[in-house]
Amino acid sequence: MAITLNNGFKMPIIGLGVWRMEGKDIKNLLFHAIKIGYRHFDCAADYKNEVEVGDALAEAFHEGLVKREDLFITTKLWNSDHGHVIEACKDSLKKLGLEYLDLYLVHFPVATRHTGAGTTDSALGEDGVLDIDTTVSLETTWHAMEDLVSMGLVRSIGISNYDIYLTRDCLAYAKVKPAVNQIETHPYFQRDSLVKFCQKHGVCVTAHTPLGGAAANTDLFGSVSCLEDSVLKGLAKKYNKTVAQIALRWGIQRNTVVIPKSSKLDRLEENFQVLDFKITKEDMELIKSVDRGCRTNQPAKFWGIDLYA
Ligand SMILES: NC(=O)c1ccc[n+]([C@@H]2O[C@H](COP(=O)([O-])OP(=O)(O)OC[C@H]3O[C@@H](n4cnc5c(N)ncnc54)[C@H](OP(=O)(O)O)[C@@H]3O)[C@@H](O)[C@H]2O)c1
Repeated sequence: MAITLNNGFKMPIIGLGVWRMEGKDIKNLLFHAIKIGYRHFDCAADYKNEVEVGDALAEAFHEGLVKREDLFITTKLWNSDHGHVIEACKDSLKKLGLEYLDLYLVHFPVATRHTGAGTTDSALGEDGVLDIDTTVSLETTWHAMEDLVSMGLVRSIGISNYDIYLTRDCLAYAKVKPAVNQIETHPYFQRDSLVKFCQKHGVCVTAHTPLGGAAANTDLFGSVSCLEDSVLKGLAKKYNKTVAQIALRWGIQRNTVVIPKSSKLDRLEENFQVLDFKITKEDMELIKSVDRGCRTNQPAKFWGIDLYA
């Protein structure tokens, strides 16, 4: 099942996120995922595992497990590379061993001090606050992203972690409209206005952190996991599914692409088994009521400032 982007390319509605996947586990996880049916992989320069993902993909192609043209590969421009878009994209392509990307995203709407080719450090000043590169506007970054399309290095370009104002602005200055806005959204952070705004204007929404980050974000950010929610647990029982499957199916039924991450083989399978049932309209309404407006992934923890304030 796929969503057609505003440029006609198709994006599989379920992808596998590879953030916090250990390099040594990647080959096994990716091979297993491909065998289950995953065709969409969500990467980023900042995840520091593009080389391992690339090695696994090369082996999968070599063994005839899957063809390049059957996959949808996303990666992301890091904050410190806004002034070096073409160089950064070529670096990711080289690490991934690919000739083109299906989707390249501006990871965050902030340009920070350049830390050197191929590096993705979050440079902090002596005050512990992120160092910003004031010479590059988001519009400049976007026009360089557009150049990647005309160079044939990427098929689609998009944004990530953009709010309504920034998305609106991007639509105004874009010659190539963003195909995707990848944002945190899950039952505890539904962001209905942003989702509706993007969809109305032809920008597909990809839900990152579609399980609310579960135990990983509870550990890292102290967040409350929607997988523990009593209403969602009740629905899981009713549909004979797991809470994770309810959260993912809900994401799909609101026309968002979901990219859950798991380093567990059985969970890769569980997270992919969400196309064989449908949540009723009434239960979709019920899930609306569990929203806590609660972001679970807060980069302020590392950057000394809250980008979303
Ligand atoms: N654009 C951005 O700024 C941004 C930010 C964050 C994430 N992302 C993307 O979104 C992807 C997903 O986000 P995420 O990994 O932070 O959060 P997530 O997918 O919502 O949750 C991952 C957590 O859920 C656990 N999990 C996975 N399947 C489960 C299941 N069926 N039952 C119970 N627990 C389960 C995982 O543990 P195990 O691994 O142990 O199974 C891990 O702790 C990332 O990999 C990345 O590609 C993008």
